[in-house]
Amino acid sequence: MVLSEEDKNNIKKAWVKIGNHAAEIGAETIGRLFIVFPSSKTYFPHFNTSEGSDQVKAHGKKVADALTNAASHLDDLPVALSSLSDLHAHKLRVDPVNFKFLSHCLLVTLACHHPADFTPAMHASLDKFFASVSTVLTSKYR
Ligand code: HEM
Repeated sequence: MVLSEEDKNNIKKAWVKIGNHAAEIGAETIGRLFIVFPSSKTYFPHFNTSEGSDQVKAHGKKVADALTNAASHLDDLPVALSSLSDLHAHKLRVDPVNFKFLSHCLLVTLACHHPADFTPAMHASLDKFFASVSTVLTSKYR
């Protein structure tokens, strides 16, 4: 997946807009993931997966922070996400299909929160961004 200069600008623009409510976006995304794709809960047997639970909120913040970090390292995602890639592939062994589910929930959440900014071009750039992050996080499976 190659991010064009336009994609990179759109991604950075989106993250400026998200600003300090990234944690809220992350929590809503994880809440949606567990409801829309319940099989994803398999990986969280130790969590209270109810929408709005403290664990959903805390985990949403971690995911959002990782994406904020990725958005500022767009030219070097494999290095920026290396330890998270080890975690998801070697330790958690998350089936890669779940990354598509999570990416879908991220897009829907962002579209709901920023409808005016969510143009087709922005949609495409964010979709490519989440696909790029997912590629890195699933790259060490084999
Ligand atoms: C955009 C994709 C993703 C990002 C950026 C991401 C990010 C993270 C981060 C930052 C952590 C915390 C690491 C730490 O505490 O050191 C984490 C943990 C975890 N992730 Fe992901 N993740 C992604 C996708 C997924 C998916 C698709 C699943 C499964 C449905 C998943 C399951 C988990 C689990 C089970 C943990 C450990 C939770 C805990 O016990 O606290 N992740 N992830």
